[in-house]
Amino acid sequence: MIEKSKVEFVTKPRLVDAYGRLIKNVRISITDKCNFRCVYCMPAEGLEWLKKDQILSFEEIERLTRVLVSMGVEQVRLTGGEPTVRKDLPELVRTLSRIKGLHSLSLTTNGYLLKKLAGPLAEAGLTRINVSLDSLVRDRFFQLTRRDSLQQVMEGLEELEKYPSISPIKINAVAMKDFTEAEVAGFALLARRKPYVVRFIEFMPLDADENWDRSKVLTGDEIKAIIEREVMPLVPVPSADPAETSTKYRFADGIGEMGFINPVSHPFCSACDRIRLTAEGMLRTCLFAHIETDLKIIMRSGASDEVLEEAIRRAVWKKEMKHYINDGEAFKRTKRSMSQIGG
Ligand code: GTP
Ligand code: 5AD
Ligand code: SF4
Repeated sequence: MIEKSKVEFVTKPRLVDAYGRLIKNVRISITDKCNFRCVYCMPAEGLEWLKKDQILSFEEIERLTRVLVSMGVEQVRLTGGEPTVRKDLPELVRTLSRIKGLHSLSLTTNGYLLKKLAGPLAEAGLTRINVSLDSLVRDRFFQLTRRDSLQQVMEGLEELEKYPSISPIKINAVAMKDFTEAEVAGFALLARRKPYVVRFIEFMPLDADENWDRSKVLTGDEIKAIIEREVMPLVPVPSADPAETSTKYRFADGIGEMGFINPVSHPFCSACDRIRLTAEGMLRTCLFAHIETDLKIIMRSGASDEVLEEAIRRAVWKKEMKHYINDGEAFKRTKRSMSQIGG
């Protein structure tokens, strides 16, 4: 069982980078596969999947998590591709939830399989969940995800509400210029009607189709202005965690909460406490990293935990200062698209 209270299980010096940022959060991609093809992430077709022996086994994920927790990591988020397509996901959740010192075990999912999996995941010990949902209108949902699956995702969300041990339920909507404006009020009303924290995410240059450009970014401030004009003023909610990706607001009448993840217009790199592990075991110290550390090779060569730990420390020390999206020529896209990183 995940203990949300902070009992210390850190047995080693904490993981820290050269800028003094402590690493407390690891995002583990458990598959590169996905059952959607969102335009801001994957190509319509043509991605080659990793083979089974190329991706980390549950045992390898557990080992890495234990090593990371011993160095001060407190939160694990499982991502993909789409993590629910990995066979026996609840079994992995159960194993990780037993690791002492882990205070949060969460999942980022497209929600398609939640109707079936919400119960088993809750029972296995999942504590938090973020569900991607970019449109509340069937044909627009299809336009973005290239799948006619809005109904199924909404049913998955309804199912989740039956399991209060998974809380909060957050909705992620990637915002795109000349598309999302029309749905802002609808999402605001959803946040007021349902126990979901709805968050808009600025579109980042991580789409496989490489269609991103600045003119397609609808900023959090622009969306906030639409909500305040069309729905109601918003009141800031102070955050307990300086590393949180989103800025939070309540509606002025106290009913419902919205969040804005603004990595393009208001970068939050200076407070970043995250590292990432790809499905094939590459450690990435930034979403936009160009350098990776192959932890799978190290593990499969029979190395001890100490050797593994040293490799992680060395990589983290060199964690990128920031992303360069706003720095003109200095920005170079990473060779991976979002589904190959895990978000
Ligand atoms: P919470 O802990 O619940 O707030 O989750 P989260 O926002 O960290 O995770 P989630 O998987 O829901 O991600 C939401 C969006 O934030 C995705 O588009 C992520 O790619 C983006 N995001 C998460 N971490 C970072 C980061 O370190 N840098 C940038 N630029 N974006 C990030
Ligand atoms: N820009 C911003 N967010 C993205 N996501 C996927 N691709 C992008 C992108 N190019 C989001 C998904 C999911 C999270 C893991 O990342 O919608 O909520
Ligand atoms: Fe799949 Fe998530 Fe990428 Fe959409 S954003 S294609 S759901 S991995």
